[in-house]
Amino acid sequence: MHGFNPETYGDSFADVYDRWYPDVSDTDGTVAKLLELAVDGIIVELGIGTGRLALPLIAAGRSVRGIDASAAMIAELTKKPNADQIDIIHGDMAAVPFGAAGEASLVFVAFNTFFNLPSAHAQASCFASAAEVLAPGGRFVVETFVAPNPSDLPRRGLSTHTVDADRVVLTATETNAQEQSIRGQHIEFTDGGVRLRPWFLRFASVTELDDMAKTAGLALEERTADWQGAAFDSGSEQHVSIYRKPLSD
Ligand SMILES: C[S@@+](CC[C@H](N)C(=O)[O-])C[C@H]1O[C@@H](n2cnc3c(N)ncnc32)[C@H](O)[C@@H]1O
Repeated sequence: MHGFNPETYGDSFADVYDRWYPDVSDTDGTVAKLLELAVDGIIVELGIGTGRLALPLIAAGRSVRGIDASAAMIAELTKKPNADQIDIIHGDMAAVPFGAAGEASLVFVAFNTFFNLPSAHAQASCFASAAEVLAPGGRFVVETFVAPNPSDLPRRGLSTHTVDADRVVLTATETNAQEQSIRGQHIEFTDGGVRLRPWFLRFASVTELDDMAKTAGLALEERTADWQGAAFDSGSEQHVSIYRKPLSD
């Protein structure tokens, strides 16, 4: 990867994340399902961002730990009421431990954040850390888009993201089919100048994710097309995959 680091996404979007993405996904449905899955024990969110999901979990009385590589995202989160109740770890979810072995009932990574990990190796390492922190019977939930066939993607793309009277945002992308990766830039033009917001995704098929889970000692318990339990099928564009650690070895 060239110039894209674990903190790149968060540092690029922290100042606009809440404004640009207030309804990025089904927040209420996500929180309801996570509360149902986390019976007791600590909930660990990977890529906690500005707390869209973690703060409602705190409000519901749960203990939440959040990991994020971006100091700028964490700074936005800590401005908010009740953020001081979250145990925040500043670090790369491919590299830092998520806590003491066996202390969590639920680990989750929502809204494509798992694909911010730049390689199969980093993604496998994240699965291993999730398995490590989970108590027996605990769950790791991953929400991402369904990986496209890499050869179906244009090598390069440019599209219009936003056109306002005082600004234009364009999205430029470059796909590497072999690496299953997309490098992107949201390029914001205003009278004040140009602002680049880079991002990087390494997508993986559900089969590849299931293999990573298996290697980490987790088994697929359920896969749905959304947080409300819609059936997952060949036409689904997203998935919520719930992996479970065995109750005993
Ligand atoms: C799309 S945002 C999602 C934020 C929040 N989970 C939500 O659903 O609104 C992705 C978050 O993951 C963080 N992130 C990206 N790569 C990371 C990594 N390797 N380790 C830890 N956090 C990372 C970013 O800094 C950002 O805060």
